[in-house]
Amino acid sequence: MIPASRLALTTALLWFLTGSLVGLLLGLGLLPYTWRPAHAHMQLLGFVSLMIYGVAYHALPRFRGVVFRRAGVALLQVALANLGLLGMALAWGLNLGPSVWGFFAGVSFLAGALFALLMLEVLWA
Ligand code: HEM
Ligand code: HEM
Repeated sequence: MIPASRLALTTALLWFLTGSLVGLLLGLGLLPYTWRPAHAHMQLLGFVSLMIYGVAYHALPRFRGVVFRRAGVALLQVALANLGLLGMALAWGLNLGPSVWGFFAGVSFLAGALFALLMLEVLWA
């Protein structure tokens, strides 16, 4: 397993735990409603997407029967995905304003685009 897969799968599980805790506190009224989109994206960009990244980096090259040659870029992609999501979630939850949120949403978008490009290369190059 390449480091990008291990980091993606580990952080997916950590986002699942923290996202579920935020959901619980939100439902109990112990966190304000600003945390709802933070909770949703901790689960969907954090748990679900990072779990998919981790499995895809391992499985897609094997399905295609090729060697994955971009382990370094993949690791950077997973780091950017985590950084972007952390910033987005805190900016939503703590109401840090559109420019802080927008910066980190841009990082998240970049990470998503990088993942798509890397996997398209594996599938078609
Ligand atoms: C212990 C686990 C969880 C708890 C306690 C929890 C709790 C909550 C609460 C209280 C809300 C706000 C509902 C409202 O609008 O009043 C919410 C929304 C949401 N949750 Fe969770 N949740 C959990 C797990 C998950 C998981 C595993 C996912 C996805 C994989 C998820 C996805 C979402 C989404 C997408 C929303 C926003 C829904 C909307 O837009 O109306 N949650 N959750
Ligand atoms: C670059 C990545 C993403 C950005 C910048 C983004 C941005 C947003 C924004 C601005 C909202 C409205 C939040 C609000 O109610 O104030 C939203 C809602 C939502 N997004 Fe995303 N999103 C991203 C990725 C995703 C992904 C990958 C999924 C699912 C796999 C997803 C699922 C949802 C859902 C279910 C809602 C409604 C949640 C709620 O109302 O609390 N998003 N997103």
